[in-house]
Amino acid sequence: MKRVFSGYRPTGDIHLGNYLGAIRNCVAMQHQMDENLICVVDLHALTTLEDIKNLVGNTRLMAASFIASGIDLTRSHIFAQSHVPAHTELSWIFSCITPMGWLNRMTQFKEKAGKHRENACLGLFAYPVLMAADVLIYKATHVPVGEDQKQHVELMRDITGLFNREFNKDVFALPEPIITGPATRIMSLRDGTAKMSKSDASDYSRINMMDDADTLALKIRKAKTDAEALPDTAKSLEFRPEAANLINIYAALANQTPDHVCKMFAGQYFSTFKKDLTDLLIAHVLPIGQEMHRLLQDKGELDQILNRGANHASALAETHMKEIREVVGLLKPLGS
Ligand code: TYM
Repeated sequence: MKRVFSGYRPTGDIHLGNYLGAIRNCVAMQHQMDENLICVVDLHALTTLEDIKNLVGNTRLMAASFIASGIDLTRSHIFAQSHVPAHTELSWIFSCITPMGWLNRMTQFKEKAGKHRENACLGLFAYPVLMAADVLIYKATHVPVGEDQKQHVELMRDITGLFNREFNKDVFALPEPIITGPATRIMSLRDGTAKMSKSDASDYSRINMMDDADTLALKIRKAKTDAEALPDTAKSLEFRPEAANLINIYAALANQTPDHVCKMFAGQYFSTFKKDLTDLLIAHVLPIGQEMHRLLQDKGELDQILNRGANHASALAETHMKEIREVVGLLKPLGS
């Protein structure tokens, strides 16, 4: 049974990193997999207070972005994490076996907690444990993510082994991270060493999927580059992070290798390349943004889609939860 689980925090408009790093891989895989679960992880958003403004609207917006990006509702189930309480139940069970030392090593916790580690909330520290529960409650086998989530997926694999050993039963199979293509780590348009992210204060650092054509053109025009011509191999871009990032974005959108794109533009300067990149972005991003706007007109329909997804996910999660409660040794409630 090949089952995909992919999660996205509802933090506002999705950006090109989310789309190229993960959503597009879910779209591509959905016909080869037996089951596809695409989840808006609203409970994860609660771990960072700045993200919880307009959670309701942003949850619908994520659902709309999946459909507009090509998630096919006859192949995939879209739902909100908080609609399936089994995620948090399993997360608690995992919390009782996961060593704090493992969580202390998580780079994302260190980055997000910053200097004020003692004041960081427990939820932020336990974030990867909830992620493990998200995936394992469905016994998912494939997890499409961007490079930044690799360490979390490795931790989830460690928790899988730990649980199976601790309770002496192979309840969970190891989930595989799916991190592929030239766009597993899209960088900021203003700083090629920082990840493209929703939390960057400058909107010019990212391409949002709902940006209009003028905004897309302006952002690419303002994107940081250098004065050198483009080389004919991607390897030569090793110390030119901004240039490498734009080449990777082009390659991902055009379904080419970065090497091929370098050969196409070898010897040319950024003015020519940026014009072609803008055209490519407009061709890919604009129709998705327009479809999102259309879908967001009918909130009732989006809520229905999320509800159907949650019903499907809950039924599967509850079957697994029954087995897990038994393996852990909890008393069965009467009548179950
Ligand atoms: P989130 O909401 O930050 O991002 C959603 C997905 O987008 C990918 N991504 C990127 N890929 C390439 N370049 C970028 N600049 C970039 N920025 C984001 C992320 O890697 C992710 O795949 N913790 C997760 C959500 C989550 C999850 C899960 C994912 C919760 N439970 C279970 C998979 C399985 C997160 O914060 O992603």
